[in-house]
Amino acid sequence: MVAIKFLCTLLIIATAALVTIVDAFDPQLMLKLVNNERKKAGVPELTLDSKLTKAAQKQTDFMVSTDNLTHDNPAGSLGKRIQDAGYKFSNVGENIAKGFGTNEEVRVMDVWMKSSGHRANILNKAFTNLGVGFGGGKYWTQDFGRRSRSTRKSKRNVTKPARLIEN
Ligand SMILES: *[C@@H]1O[C@H](CO)[C@@H](O)[C@H](O)[C@H]1NC(C)=O
Ligand SMILES: *[C@@H]1O[C@H](CO)[C@@H](O)[C@H](O)[C@H]1NC(C)=O
Repeated sequence: MVAIKFLCTLLIIATAALVTIVDAFDPQLMLKLVNNERKKAGVPELTLDSKLTKAAQKQTDFMVSTDNLTHDNPAGSLGKRIQDAGYKFSNVGENIAKGFGTNEEVRVMDVWMKSSGHRANILNKAFTNLGVGFGGGKYWTQDFGRRSRSTRKSKRNVTKPARLIEN
């Protein structure tokens, strides 16, 4: 009995360690890859924003929990989700992908750049900030934004491209 309990404890620790390893990713590397593309295209570079990162990770966590690649979320539209994360915006966009694993920033960016909707977000000169999320060993989110002092919905521009699946 004691042995079984011990084994269970070990398994839980092993699982926790595995989850941590599986979800390893590097937002700074993603930022660098995005900015390399923007430099090539002659558009201003982005900086990471903690509120956009929070929104991107939340959407990632939702996709992991439902195992579904989607911009839709009962928490609201992309605009609402980003506003609720505390980021007041004039422009916002979201790229998502499924099927790219741990530390595959380079591969997911390559495939996003070959997809016109995702590429348009990555190179959109209106954006100034980036947030990155990763989870479940396969779900990626990029949230792009430009801050605004105004919260008027009529002044907001929300662009979101098609979802991308690669296995
Ligand atoms: C998955 O997401 C798609 C696109 O948003 C949606 O139409 C579909 O109902 C979702 N499926 C599940 C099982 O939640
Ligand atoms: C939204 O932004 C895109 C890209 O910056 C632009 O092409 C489009 O005209 C804008 N739409 C509105 C409604 O402002």
